[in-house]
Amino acid sequence: MNPDFAIVILAAGLGTRMKSRMAKVLHRAAGKTLIEWVTETALLLATPERIYIVVGHQADQVRQALEPQGVRFVLQSEQLGTGHALLAAREVVGSAAARLLVLYGDCPLVSAETLTSLLDSHRDSPAAAATVLTTQLADPAGYGRIVRTPAGEFQAIVEDNQANAGQRDIREINTGIYCFQSAPLFECLTRVRPNNPAGEYYLTDVIEHLIAQGCAVRSLPIPDSSQVLGINTRVELAEVEAVLRARTARQLMLDGVTIHRPETVTLDAGVSIGPDTVLEPFVQVLGRARLGSGCLVRSYSVISDSVLGDDITVEPFSLIHDSEIEQGARLGPYARLRGGNHVGRDARVGNFVELKKTRLGARSKALHLAYLGDSKLGEGVNVGAGTITCNYDGVAKHPTVIEDGAFVGSNSTLVAPVTIGKGAYLAAGSVITQDVPAESLGIGRSRQTNKPGWAAARRKAK
Ligand code: UD1
Ligand code: CA
Repeated sequence: MNPDFAIVILAAGLGTRMKSRMAKVLHRAAGKTLIEWVTETALLLATPERIYIVVGHQADQVRQALEPQGVRFVLQSEQLGTGHALLAAREVVGSAAARLLVLYGDCPLVSAETLTSLLDSHRDSPAAAATVLTTQLADPAGYGRIVRTPAGEFQAIVEDNQANAGQRDIREINTGIYCFQSAPLFECLTRVRPNNPAGEYYLTDVIEHLIAQGCAVRSLPIPDSSQVLGINTRVELAEVEAVLRARTARQLMLDGVTIHRPETVTLDAGVSIGPDTVLEPFVQVLGRARLGSGCLVRSYSVISDSVLGDDITVEPFSLIHDSEIEQGARLGPYARLRGGNHVGRDARVGNFVELKKTRLGARSKALHLAYLGDSKLGEGVNVGAGTITCNYDGVAKHPTVIEDGAFVGSNSTLVAPVTIGKGAYLAAGSVITQDVPAESLGIGRSRQTNKPGWAAARRKAK
């Protein structure tokens, strides 16, 4: 990594056009905040102590989102424009590096290769005070336009709200990605005035000041304009997210995953899925989910932050969060694994079964309508329909233990803390409040009485 430059990422604005209470850079695309996307790309070029994030709006939350990255922060306490934001970093970065790579936090698709070529291009022309990354857009509305002299030389960047009709037709736009020589940049930034309808200090105005000072300004046009889409509205957020998800789906398909109707499948960037796994339409695989090979995930299932082994079937409409599932297990339809679960090899969790902080041993089954919370089930346990662990007494949570080979009759209520011994049986409909020893039958219900002839007597009495 080359220490002759530092990176500044502007991320202090609210993002009015998002119409949100949350700062724009904290909005998420494909599982990460926009500012994480940009920062992670920056980290491919420079060490964290050479990356400065200008924060302002919801500064604490932005700092928090980037805490694991170890990057530095600069506060722009009032958000008076992109030029003002960069000026806020002057004291900290002005002497840190001879060159600055400046990025905006709302432009998450740009690749490290593109940024490297901008830096290289800037280094190759030592006379240039600034090199601006530009591209051509079919619809340039909203972007700053690159105005050139008749000879084709860089003259100015004119913002959309200041452009005249002729300038609005210009399709070459400012991507908001620049490389500057620090000294002339900061000198000229102090000359920028808020002479525009928004009353902001535009960073883009520094270009004219540099040129007026006799400094050279160059551009580096890139053909792939999809990389430099900026996000100002939720429409653009959705467009960028579609690009990110499609990239992930494409890579997974190339790696051997079958994805039916990939345009309907939601895949976060951090997920991994093994070959010969099949995803049906409308599946979501989110966060840090890892799926093995040969799995089948059927429609409308949502798997987040979980680890699934090989050959697992997830039937439709199942929700699996923060859980670990071993090879050969079958879940759903309509299974709900809320978090902290471990489902053993070849185990089965059926429809309307909810698990929370529960361990299900190998080959154990809970196939219908059950709640198992804070429970530990051994191997080969059979949990009947309607079984409920009463794990909460209104104050504290208590554990339920069901040992290997136990058979829990339907509609059993297990009042925790309670242990059902190895191979024991629970009679259907029992309310179990005491431990049941191994190999025993636990019955906790009132005895049934039948009254012969009762019905006929009643009818007669009417
Ligand atoms: C900017 C450029 C425009 C370019 C476009 C590319 C300016 C004046 N215009 O316009 O030429 O085509 O990006 O996407 O720079 N920010 C701060 N502090 C502020 C204001 C903004 O940190 O006071 C940050 C925002 O959080 C955002 C970035 O700067 O991440 C860009 O701001 P935004 O308002 O989105 O600029 P655009 O209008 O898109
Ligand atoms: Ca923008």
